[in-house]
Amino acid sequence: VKEMMSLMIKASSQPMSPSHNILPRVLSFYHHWKKAYGGTFLVWFGPTPRLTVADPDLIREIFASKSEFYEKDESHPLVRQLEGDGLLSLKGEKWALHRKIITPTFHMENLKVLLPVVGKSIIKMVENWGESSKTEIDVSESFQRLTEDIITRTAFGSSYEDGKAVFSLQSQQMELAADAFRKVFIPGYRFLPTTKNRRSWKLNKEIRRSLMRLIERREKEAEEGGVYGEDLLGLMIKARAEGAISAKDIVEECKTFFFAGKQTTSNLLTWAAVLLAMHPEWQERARAELLGLPDPPYIIPSKDQLDKLKTMSMILNEALRLYPPAVATIRQAKTNVELGGYAIPKGMELLIPILAVHHDPALWGPDADEFNPSRFSDGVARAATHPVAFIPFGLGARTCIGQSLALLEAKLVLTIILRRFDISLSPAYRHAPTVLMLLYPQHGAPLYFRPLLSA
Ligand code: HEM
Repeated sequence: VKEMMSLMIKASSQPMSPSHNILPRVLSFYHHWKKAYGGTFLVWFGPTPRLTVADPDLIREIFASKSEFYEKDESHPLVRQLEGDGLLSLKGEKWALHRKIITPTFHMENLKVLLPVVGKSIIKMVENWGESSKTEIDVSESFQRLTEDIITRTAFGSSYEDGKAVFSLQSQQMELAADAFRKVFIPGYRFLPTTKNRRSWKLNKEIRRSLMRLIERREKEAEEGGVYGEDLLGLMIKARAEGAISAKDIVEECKTFFFAGKQTTSNLLTWAAVLLAMHPEWQERARAELLGLPDPPYIIPSKDQLDKLKTMSMILNEALRLYPPAVATIRQAKTNVELGGYAIPKGMELLIPILAVHHDPALWGPDADEFNPSRFSDGVARAATHPVAFIPFGLGARTCIGQSLALLEAKLVLTIILRRFDISLSPAYRHAPTVLMLLYPQHGAPLYFRPLLSA
Protein backbone atom coordinates (compact mmCIF):
# COMPACT_ATOMS: atom_id res chain seq x y z
CA VAL A 1 0.00 0.00 0.00
CA LYS A 2 2.85 2.33 0.92
CA GLU A 3 4.53 1.57 -2.36
CA MET A 4 1.33 2.20 -4.30
CA MET A 5 0.65 5.50 -2.51
CA SER A 6 4.14 6.83 -3.15
CA LEU A 7 3.93 5.88 -6.82
CA MET A 8 0.53 7.50 -7.15
CA ILE A 9 1.75 10.70 -5.53
CA LYS A 10 4.76 10.70 -7.85
CA ALA A 11 2.55 10.07 -10.87
CA SER A 12 0.00 12.74 -9.97
CA SER A 13 2.74 15.33 -9.45
CA GLN A 14 3.65 14.93 -13.12
CA PRO A 15 1.57 17.17 -15.37
CA MET A 16 -1.11 15.22 -17.23
CA SER A 17 -0.36 15.30 -20.94
CA PRO A 18 -2.86 17.43 -22.87
CA SER A 19 -4.02 14.31 -24.69
CA HIS A 20 -4.71 12.33 -21.50
CA ASN A 21 -2.84 9.35 -22.84
CA ILE A 22 -2.98 6.99 -19.87
CA LEU A 23 -0.64 4.35 -21.27
CA PRO A 24 2.73 5.81 -20.17
CA ARG A 25 1.40 6.12 -16.64
CA VAL A 26 -0.08 2.62 -16.44
CA LEU A 27 3.02 1.13 -17.98
CA SER A 28 5.37 2.99 -15.67
CA PHE A 29 3.58 1.34 -12.71
CA TYR A 30 4.11 -2.07 -14.24
CA HIS A 31 7.71 -1.51 -15.20
CA HIS A 32 8.45 -0.24 -11.72
CA TRP A 33 6.75 -3.18 -9.99
CA LYS A 34 8.38 -5.66 -12.30
CA LYS A 35 11.80 -4.23 -11.51
CA ALA A 36 11.08 -4.17 -7.77
CA TYR A 37 9.31 -7.53 -7.39
CA GLY A 38 10.52 -9.61 -10.32
CA GLY A 39 7.37 -9.84 -12.41
CA THR A 40 4.87 -11.24 -9.91
CA PHE A 41 3.09 -8.95 -7.51
CA LEU A 42 -0.17 -8.65 -5.65
CA VAL A 43 -2.48 -5.80 -6.61
CA TRP A 44 -5.78 -5.13 -4.86
CA PHE A 45 -8.74 -4.45 -7.12
CA GLY A 46 -11.26 -3.11 -4.63
CA PRO A 47 -11.70 -5.87 -2.04
CA THR A 48 -10.17 -8.57 -4.27
CA PRO A 49 -6.44 -9.32 -4.19
CA ARG A 50 -5.17 -10.40 -7.59
CA LEU A 51 -1.75 -11.72 -8.33
CA THR A 52 -0.41 -9.95 -11.38
CA VAL A 53 1.85 -12.24 -13.35
CA ALA A 54 4.04 -10.39 -15.81
CA ASP A 55 6.91 -12.89 -15.82
CA PRO A 56 6.78 -14.69 -19.20
CA ASP A 57 8.03 -18.03 -17.79
CA LEU A 58 5.23 -18.04 -15.24
CA ILE A 59 2.67 -16.99 -17.86
CA ARG A 60 3.74 -20.01 -19.87
CA GLU A 61 3.30 -22.19 -16.81
CA ILE A 62 -0.28 -20.95 -16.30
CA PHE A 63 -1.34 -21.41 -19.92
CA ALA A 64 0.75 -24.39 -21.00
CA SER A 65 2.82 -26.62 -18.74
CA LYS A 66 0.54 -26.42 -15.66
CA SER A 67 -2.71 -25.26 -17.27
CA GLU A 68 -4.70 -28.04 -15.56
CA PHE A 69 -4.42 -26.09 -12.29
CA TYR A 70 -6.07 -22.96 -13.66
CA GLU A 71 -9.40 -22.01 -15.19
CA LYS A 72 -11.16 -18.91 -16.46
CA ASP A 73 -12.33 -16.49 -13.81
CA GLU A 74 -15.98 -15.55 -13.29
CA SER A 75 -16.73 -12.46 -15.39
CA HIS A 76 -18.08 -9.32 -13.82
CA PRO A 77 -21.93 -9.56 -13.86
CA LEU A 78 -22.15 -6.58 -16.23
CA VAL A 79 -19.83 -8.30 -18.69
CA ARG A 80 -21.63 -11.61 -18.22
CA GLN A 81 -24.92 -10.02 -19.20
CA LEU A 82 -23.36 -8.88 -22.47
CA GLU A 83 -21.19 -11.84 -23.35
CA GLY A 84 -23.82 -14.48 -22.49
CA ASP A 85 -23.02 -17.94 -21.18
CA GLY A 86 -21.05 -18.93 -24.25
CA LEU A 87 -17.49 -19.92 -25.15
CA LEU A 88 -15.89 -16.98 -23.40
CA SER A 89 -17.22 -17.94 -19.98
CA LEU A 90 -18.03 -21.67 -20.15
CA LYS A 91 -15.74 -24.16 -18.45
CA GLY A 92 -15.01 -27.87 -18.44
CA GLU A 93 -16.78 -30.36 -20.69
CA LYS A 94 -19.47 -27.97 -21.85
CA TRP A 95 -16.83 -25.52 -23.05
CA ALA A 96 -14.94 -28.32 -24.87
CA LEU A 97 -18.12 -29.47 -26.63
CA HIS A 98 -19.07 -25.95 -27.74
CA ARG A 99 -15.54 -25.24 -28.92
CA LYS A 100 -15.63 -28.41 -31.05
CA ILE A 101 -18.98 -27.48 -32.59
CA ILE A 102 -18.06 -23.86 -33.33
CA THR A 103 -14.48 -24.31 -34.56
CA PRO A 104 -15.47 -25.21 -38.17
CA THR A 105 -17.14 -21.78 -38.55
CA PHE A 106 -13.60 -20.40 -38.65
CA HIS A 107 -12.08 -22.91 -41.07
CA MET A 108 -10.29 -21.02 -43.79
CA GLU A 109 -12.57 -22.60 -46.43
CA ASN A 110 -15.57 -20.91 -44.79
CA LEU A 111 -13.78 -17.62 -44.28
CA LYS A 112 -12.58 -17.57 -47.89
CA VAL A 113 -16.17 -17.75 -49.10
CA LEU A 114 -16.93 -14.68 -47.02
CA LEU A 115 -14.22 -12.53 -48.61
CA PRO A 116 -16.20 -11.19 -51.62
CA VAL A 117 -19.26 -10.45 -49.45
CA VAL A 118 -17.21 -8.78 -46.77
CA GLY A 119 -15.25 -6.90 -49.44
CA LYS A 120 -18.53 -5.42 -50.72
CA SER A 121 -19.39 -4.15 -47.23
CA ILE A 122 -15.99 -2.47 -47.05
CA ILE A 123 -16.35 -0.88 -50.46
CA LYS A 124 -19.80 0.38 -49.48
CA MET A 125 -18.22 1.98 -46.42
CA VAL A 126 -15.44 3.78 -48.32
CA GLU A 127 -17.56 4.84 -51.30
CA ASN A 128 -18.77 7.89 -49.40
CA TRP A 129 -15.30 8.89 -48.26
CA GLY A 130 -13.77 9.94 -51.52
CA GLU A 131 -16.03 12.75 -52.62
CA SER A 132 -13.95 15.71 -51.56
CA SER A 133 -10.19 16.14 -51.64
CA LYS A 134 -9.97 15.51 -47.90
CA THR A 135 -12.74 13.81 -45.97
CA GLU A 136 -12.61 13.60 -42.20
CA ILE A 137 -13.88 10.30 -40.82
CA ASP A 138 -13.99 9.08 -37.25
CA VAL A 139 -12.75 5.60 -38.06
CA SER A 140 -13.54 4.20 -34.64
CA GLU A 141 -17.25 4.67 -35.45
CA SER A 142 -17.06 3.50 -39.06
CA PHE A 143 -15.06 0.39 -38.18
CA GLN A 144 -17.54 -0.55 -35.47
CA ARG A 145 -20.38 -0.49 -37.98
CA LEU A 146 -18.28 -2.48 -40.42
CA THR A 147 -17.20 -5.19 -37.98
CA GLU A 148 -20.79 -5.48 -36.79
CA ASP A 149 -21.82 -6.15 -40.37
CA ILE A 150 -19.07 -8.74 -40.87
CA ILE A 151 -19.76 -10.59 -37.64
CA THR A 152 -23.46 -10.70 -38.56
CA ARG A 153 -22.63 -12.34 -41.89
CA THR A 154 -20.31 -14.88 -40.22
CA ALA A 155 -22.85 -15.76 -37.56
CA PHE A 156 -26.06 -15.78 -39.55
CA GLY A 157 -25.19 -16.24 -43.23
CA SER A 158 -28.47 -16.47 -45.13
CA SER A 159 -30.43 -15.02 -42.16
CA TYR A 160 -28.31 -11.87 -42.34
CA GLU A 161 -31.22 -9.39 -42.22
CA ASP A 162 -32.80 -10.98 -39.13
CA GLY A 163 -29.41 -11.33 -37.47
CA LYS A 164 -28.69 -7.68 -38.20
CA ALA A 165 -31.83 -6.62 -36.35
CA VAL A 166 -30.86 -8.68 -33.27
CA PHE A 167 -27.25 -7.52 -33.22
CA SER A 168 -28.33 -3.92 -33.53
CA LEU A 169 -30.21 -4.42 -30.24
CA GLN A 170 -27.08 -5.94 -28.72
CA SER A 171 -25.05 -2.98 -29.90
CA GLN A 172 -27.44 -0.67 -28.04
CA GLN A 173 -27.15 -2.85 -24.97
CA MET A 174 -23.35 -2.66 -25.14
CA GLU A 175 -23.47 1.13 -25.21
CA LEU A 176 -25.71 1.18 -22.14
CA ALA A 177 -23.39 -1.27 -20.38
CA ALA A 178 -20.41 0.95 -21.13
CA ASP A 179 -22.24 3.71 -19.30
CA ALA A 180 -22.92 1.39 -16.33
CA PHE A 181 -19.23 0.44 -16.31
CA ARG A 182 -18.23 4.05 -15.89
CA LYS A 183 -20.34 4.06 -12.71
CA VAL A 184 -19.17 0.70 -11.44
CA PHE A 185 -17.63 2.41 -8.38
CA ILE A 186 -21.16 3.34 -7.15
CA PRO A 187 -22.12 0.33 -4.97
CA GLY A 188 -25.13 -1.54 -6.35
CA TYR A 189 -25.50 0.84 -9.32
CA ARG A 190 -26.31 -1.97 -11.74
CA PHE A 191 -29.38 -2.93 -9.67
CA LEU A 192 -30.85 0.57 -9.58
CA PRO A 193 -33.94 1.02 -11.79
CA THR A 194 -32.45 4.01 -13.66
CA THR A 195 -33.84 4.69 -17.14
CA LYS A 196 -30.67 3.31 -18.73
CA ASN A 197 -30.58 0.19 -16.58
CA ARG A 198 -34.25 -0.55 -17.27
CA ARG A 199 -33.67 -0.10 -20.99
CA SER A 200 -30.70 -2.48 -20.81
CA TRP A 201 -32.73 -5.17 -18.97
CA LYS A 202 -35.52 -4.82 -21.53
CA LEU A 203 -33.06 -5.13 -24.40
CA ASN A 204 -31.56 -8.22 -22.83
CA LYS A 205 -34.94 -9.97 -22.88
CA GLU A 206 -35.72 -8.74 -26.38
CA ILE A 207 -32.40 -10.03 -27.76
CA ARG A 208 -32.91 -13.51 -26.30
CA ARG A 209 -36.52 -13.66 -27.55
CA SER A 210 -35.57 -12.57 -31.09
CA LEU A 211 -32.70 -15.06 -31.24
CA MET A 212 -34.99 -17.85 -30.10
CA ARG A 213 -37.49 -16.98 -32.87
CA LEU A 214 -34.67 -16.96 -35.42
CA ILE A 215 -33.42 -20.37 -34.27
CA GLU A 216 -36.91 -21.86 -34.55
CA ARG A 217 -37.28 -20.53 -38.08
CA ARG A 218 -33.89 -21.81 -39.22
CA GLU A 219 -34.64 -25.19 -37.66
CA LYS A 220 -37.85 -25.40 -39.62
CA GLU A 221 -36.07 -24.42 -42.84
CA ALA A 222 -33.37 -27.04 -42.19
CA GLU A 223 -35.99 -29.75 -41.56
CA GLU A 224 -37.75 -28.87 -44.81
CA GLY A 225 -34.70 -28.34 -47.02
CA GLY A 226 -32.21 -30.64 -45.28
CA VAL A 227 -29.51 -27.94 -45.39
CA TYR A 228 -28.12 -26.39 -42.21
CA GLY A 229 -25.56 -23.96 -43.62
CA GLU A 230 -21.93 -23.46 -42.64
CA ASP A 231 -22.51 -20.27 -40.69
CA LEU A 232 -22.29 -20.27 -36.88
CA LEU A 233 -26.06 -20.61 -36.54
CA GLY A 234 -26.27 -23.48 -39.05
CA LEU A 235 -23.51 -25.46 -37.34
CA MET A 236 -25.12 -25.05 -33.96
CA ILE A 237 -28.61 -25.92 -35.20
CA LYS A 238 -27.15 -29.10 -36.66
CA ALA A 239 -25.55 -29.89 -33.30
CA ARG A 240 -28.92 -29.35 -31.63
CA ALA A 241 -30.59 -31.74 -34.08
CA GLU A 242 -27.99 -34.32 -33.00
CA GLY A 243 -28.89 -33.65 -29.35
CA ALA A 244 -25.51 -32.08 -28.47
CA ILE A 245 -26.69 -28.62 -27.36
CA SER A 246 -29.90 -26.80 -26.46
CA ALA A 247 -31.60 -23.85 -28.14
CA LYS A 248 -30.69 -21.74 -25.09
CA ASP A 249 -27.02 -22.65 -25.60
CA ILE A 250 -27.28 -21.36 -29.17
CA VAL A 251 -28.77 -18.07 -27.98
CA GLU A 252 -25.89 -17.63 -25.53
CA GLU A 253 -23.25 -18.43 -28.16
CA CYS A 254 -24.72 -15.88 -30.57
CA LYS A 255 -24.43 -13.23 -27.86
CA THR A 256 -20.85 -14.28 -27.13
CA PHE A 257 -19.92 -14.13 -30.78
CA PHE A 258 -21.06 -10.58 -31.16
CA PHE A 259 -19.52 -9.45 -27.88
CA ALA A 260 -16.16 -11.09 -28.53
CA GLY A 261 -15.83 -10.29 -32.23
CA LYS A 262 -17.15 -6.82 -32.88
CA GLN A 263 -15.27 -4.28 -30.82
CA THR A 264 -12.02 -6.23 -30.59
CA THR A 265 -11.62 -6.22 -34.36
CA SER A 266 -12.79 -2.64 -34.82
CA ASN A 267 -10.26 -1.55 -32.18
CA LEU A 268 -7.46 -3.34 -34.02
CA LEU A 269 -8.51 -1.62 -37.25
CA THR A 270 -8.74 1.77 -35.56
CA TRP A 271 -5.27 1.57 -34.00
CA ALA A 272 -3.77 0.25 -37.22
CA ALA A 273 -5.28 3.15 -39.21
CA VAL A 274 -4.09 5.68 -36.61
CA LEU A 275 -0.56 4.23 -36.72
CA LEU A 276 -0.55 4.35 -40.51
CA ALA A 277 -1.63 7.98 -40.37
CA MET A 278 1.16 8.72 -37.89
CA HIS A 279 3.77 6.87 -39.97
CA PRO A 280 3.36 7.80 -43.66
CA GLU A 281 6.56 5.93 -44.56
CA TRP A 282 4.94 2.63 -43.49
CA GLN A 283 1.73 3.56 -45.24
CA GLU A 284 3.74 4.05 -48.44
CA ARG A 285 5.52 0.71 -47.99
CA ALA A 286 2.26 -1.15 -47.46
CA ARG A 287 0.67 0.56 -50.48
CA ALA A 288 3.65 -0.15 -52.72
CA GLU A 289 3.49 -3.80 -51.71
CA LEU A 290 -0.17 -4.19 -52.54
CA LEU A 291 0.12 -2.29 -55.81
CA GLY A 292 2.97 -4.60 -56.74
CA LEU A 293 0.85 -7.75 -56.31
CA PRO A 294 0.71 -10.02 -59.33
CA ASP A 295 -2.52 -9.86 -61.36
CA PRO A 296 -3.63 -6.32 -60.59
CA PRO A 297 -5.93 -4.53 -60.96
CA TYR A 298 -8.33 -5.96 -58.45
CA ILE A 299 -11.15 -4.54 -56.41
CA ILE A 300 -11.45 -7.19 -53.72
CA PRO A 301 -8.21 -9.13 -53.24
CA SER A 302 -8.31 -12.90 -52.96
CA LYS A 303 -7.06 -14.87 -49.96
CA ASP A 304 -3.91 -15.82 -51.94
CA GLN A 305 -3.21 -12.17 -52.70
CA LEU A 306 -3.75 -11.18 -49.07
CA ASP A 307 -1.31 -13.89 -47.96
CA LYS A 308 1.42 -12.19 -49.99
CA LEU A 309 1.07 -8.89 -48.11
CA LYS A 310 3.92 -9.31 -45.66
CA THR A 311 4.30 -5.62 -44.76
CA MET A 312 0.61 -5.42 -43.93
CA SER A 313 0.95 -8.41 -41.56
CA MET A 314 3.94 -6.74 -39.89
CA ILE A 315 1.96 -3.53 -39.40
CA LEU A 316 -1.04 -5.38 -37.96
CA ASN A 317 1.14 -7.36 -35.56
CA GLU A 318 2.87 -4.20 -34.39
CA ALA A 319 -0.53 -2.51 -33.89
CA LEU A 320 -1.66 -5.54 -31.85
CA ARG A 321 1.53 -5.40 -29.83
CA LEU A 322 1.37 -1.68 -29.00
CA TYR A 323 -2.41 -1.47 -28.60
CA PRO A 324 -3.76 -4.94 -27.82
CA PRO A 325 -7.57 -4.58 -27.78
CA ALA A 326 -7.79 -7.03 -24.84
CA VAL A 327 -5.35 -5.50 -22.35
CA ALA A 328 -5.40 -8.38 -19.87
CA THR A 329 -6.85 -11.77 -19.16
CA ILE A 330 -7.58 -13.47 -15.86
CA ARG A 331 -7.25 -17.03 -14.62
CA GLN A 332 -8.27 -18.55 -11.31
CA ALA A 333 -6.44 -21.27 -9.36
CA LYS A 334 -8.60 -24.43 -9.37
CA THR A 335 -6.70 -25.81 -6.43
CA ASN A 336 -3.83 -24.84 -4.09
CA VAL A 337 -0.85 -24.59 -6.37
CA GLU A 338 2.75 -23.38 -6.40
CA LEU A 339 3.76 -20.73 -8.92
CA GLY A 340 7.26 -19.26 -9.10
CA GLY A 341 7.89 -19.99 -5.42
CA TYR A 342 4.53 -18.54 -4.28
CA ALA A 343 1.84 -20.68 -2.66
CA ILE A 344 -1.32 -19.76 -4.57
CA PRO A 345 -4.49 -20.60 -2.66
CA LYS A 346 -7.45 -22.20 -4.47
CA GLY A 347 -9.74 -19.53 -5.96
CA MET A 348 -7.07 -16.82 -6.20
CA GLU A 349 -7.25 -14.72 -9.34
CA LEU A 350 -4.18 -14.22 -11.52
CA LEU A 351 -4.08 -11.28 -13.88
CA ILE A 352 -1.96 -11.55 -17.01
CA PRO A 353 -1.28 -7.96 -18.16
CA ILE A 354 -1.07 -8.48 -21.93
CA LEU A 355 -0.47 -4.75 -22.47
CA ALA A 356 2.47 -4.64 -20.04
CA VAL A 357 4.01 -7.82 -21.50
CA HIS A 358 3.81 -6.29 -24.99
CA HIS A 359 5.62 -3.15 -23.78
CA ASP A 360 8.24 -4.88 -21.65
CA PRO A 361 11.72 -3.63 -22.65
CA ALA A 362 13.21 -6.89 -21.31
CA LEU A 363 11.26 -8.75 -24.01
CA TRP A 364 11.13 -6.18 -26.82
CA GLY A 365 14.24 -4.08 -26.32
CA PRO A 366 14.70 -0.39 -25.44
CA ASP A 367 12.33 0.70 -28.25
CA ALA A 368 9.46 -1.39 -26.83
CA ASP A 369 7.08 1.61 -26.83
CA GLU A 370 7.88 2.60 -30.39
CA PHE A 371 6.14 1.64 -33.63
CA ASN A 372 8.58 -0.51 -35.51
CA PRO A 373 6.88 -3.17 -37.68
CA SER A 374 10.33 -4.32 -38.87
CA ARG A 375 10.64 -6.35 -35.69
CA PHE A 376 8.09 -8.73 -37.22
CA SER A 377 9.92 -9.05 -40.55
CA ASP A 378 10.91 -12.68 -39.85
CA GLY A 379 7.50 -13.61 -38.47
CA VAL A 380 5.94 -13.58 -35.03
CA ALA A 381 8.02 -16.39 -33.56
CA ARG A 382 11.30 -14.58 -34.24
CA ALA A 383 10.11 -11.10 -33.27
CA ALA A 384 10.40 -11.50 -29.51
CA THR A 385 12.87 -13.07 -27.16
CA HIS A 386 10.24 -15.23 -25.45
CA PRO A 387 7.41 -17.43 -26.81
CA VAL A 388 4.77 -15.64 -24.72
CA ALA A 389 5.96 -12.11 -25.40
CA PHE A 390 3.21 -11.59 -28.01
CA ILE A 391 -0.21 -12.72 -26.82
CA PRO A 392 -2.90 -10.40 -28.26
CA PHE A 393 -5.20 -13.39 -28.79
CA GLY A 394 -4.38 -15.10 -25.49
CA LEU A 395 -2.75 -18.52 -25.56
CA GLY A 396 -3.25 -22.15 -24.74
CA ALA A 397 -6.48 -24.10 -25.17
CA ARG A 398 -8.63 -21.00 -24.76
CA THR A 399 -6.88 -18.92 -27.34
CA CYS A 400 -9.13 -16.70 -29.46
CA ILE A 401 -11.29 -18.76 -31.80
CA GLY A 402 -11.86 -15.77 -34.10
CA GLN A 403 -8.18 -14.91 -34.63
CA SER A 404 -8.04 -15.89 -38.32
CA LEU A 405 -11.26 -14.06 -39.08
CA ALA A 406 -10.04 -10.91 -37.31
CA LEU A 407 -6.70 -10.88 -39.13
CA LEU A 408 -8.19 -11.65 -42.52
CA GLU A 409 -10.81 -8.98 -42.04
CA ALA A 410 -8.26 -6.39 -40.91
CA LYS A 411 -5.99 -7.10 -43.87
CA LEU A 412 -8.86 -6.87 -46.32
CA VAL A 413 -10.11 -3.57 -44.90
CA LEU A 414 -6.68 -1.93 -44.89
CA THR A 415 -5.88 -3.19 -48.36
CA ILE A 416 -9.04 -1.72 -49.83
CA ILE A 417 -8.54 1.57 -47.99
CA LEU A 418 -4.83 2.00 -48.75
CA ARG A 419 -5.39 1.34 -52.43
CA ARG A 420 -7.84 4.23 -52.60
CA PHE A 421 -6.75 6.76 -49.98
CA ASP A 422 -3.87 8.53 -48.37
CA ILE A 423 -4.51 8.59 -44.61
CA SER A 424 -3.41 11.39 -42.29
CA LEU A 425 -4.31 12.58 -38.79
CA SER A 426 -6.97 15.24 -38.50
CA PRO A 427 -5.92 18.18 -36.29
CA ALA A 428 -8.90 17.13 -34.12
CA TYR A 429 -7.20 13.81 -33.29
CA ARG A 430 -6.00 13.50 -29.68
CA HIS A 431 -3.94 10.48 -28.82
CA ALA A 432 -5.76 9.18 -25.76
CA PRO A 433 -5.83 5.40 -25.49
CA THR A 434 -7.98 4.41 -22.57
CA VAL A 435 -9.39 1.21 -21.13
CA LEU A 436 -13.07 0.44 -20.76
CA MET A 437 -13.28 -3.32 -21.08
CA LEU A 438 -11.01 -2.91 -24.15
CA LEU A 439 -8.27 -0.49 -25.20
CA TYR A 440 -9.88 2.20 -27.30
CA PRO A 441 -9.31 5.85 -28.31
CA GLN A 442 -11.13 7.97 -25.75
CA HIS A 443 -11.90 10.83 -28.13
CA GLY A 444 -12.50 8.71 -31.22
CA ALA A 445 -10.11 8.61 -34.14
CA PRO A 446 -10.79 11.40 -36.64
CA LEU A 447 -8.58 10.86 -39.68
CA TYR A 448 -8.33 12.50 -43.10
CA PHE A 449 -8.85 10.38 -46.19
CA ARG A 450 -7.52 11.89 -49.42
CA PRO A 451 -8.45 10.01 -52.60
CA LEU A 452 -5.44 8.79 -54.58
CA LEU A 453 -5.45 9.72 -58.23
CA SER A 454 -4.42 6.25 -59.38
CA ALA A 455 -7.21 4.47 -57.45
C1 HEM B 1 -11.02 -15.34 -26.85
C2 HEM B 1 -8.70 -11.34 -28.30
C3 HEM B 1 -11.43 -11.24 -32.34
C4 HEM B 1 -14.22 -14.70 -30.47
C5 HEM B 1 -10.13 -14.30 -26.95
C6 HEM B 1 -9.03 -14.08 -26.03
C7 HEM B 1 -8.40 -12.96 -26.41
C8 HEM B 1 -9.07 -12.47 -27.60
C9 HEM B 1 -7.20 -12.30 -25.74
C10 HEM B 1 -8.64 -14.99 -24.88
C11 HEM B 1 -9.32 -14.59 -23.61
C12 HEM B 1 -8.82 -15.38 -22.43
O1 HEM B 1 -7.87 -16.13 -22.53
O2 HEM B 1 -9.37 -15.16 -21.37
C13 HEM B 1 -9.25 -10.99 -29.53
C14 HEM B 1 -8.74 -9.90 -30.36
C15 HEM B 1 -9.51 -9.89 -31.49
C16 HEM B 1 -10.49 -10.95 -31.37
C17 HEM B 1 -7.58 -9.00 -29.99
C18 HEM B 1 -9.43 -9.00 -32.69
C19 HEM B 1 -8.41 -8.28 -33.02
C20 HEM B 1 -12.41 -12.20 -32.20
C21 HEM B 1 -13.43 -12.49 -33.17
C22 HEM B 1 -14.24 -13.44 -32.61
C23 HEM B 1 -13.70 -13.78 -31.32
C24 HEM B 1 -13.55 -11.82 -34.54
C25 HEM B 1 -15.47 -14.11 -33.16
C26 HEM B 1 -16.04 -13.85 -34.23
C27 HEM B 1 -13.60 -15.15 -29.32
C28 HEM B 1 -14.14 -16.21 -28.49
C29 HEM B 1 -13.21 -16.42 -27.46
C30 HEM B 1 -12.14 -15.46 -27.68
C31 HEM B 1 -15.46 -16.94 -28.70
C32 HEM B 1 -13.29 -17.45 -26.34
C33 HEM B 1 -12.55 -18.71 -26.79
C34 HEM B 1 -12.59 -19.82 -25.78
O3 HEM B 1 -12.47 -19.57 -24.57
O4 HEM B 1 -12.72 -20.96 -26.23
N1 HEM B 1 -10.12 -13.32 -27.91
N2 HEM B 1 -10.29 -11.57 -30.17
N3 HEM B 1 -12.59 -13.00 -31.10
N4 HEM B 1 -12.41 -14.72 -28.81
FE1 HEM B 1 -11.30 -13.24 -29.55
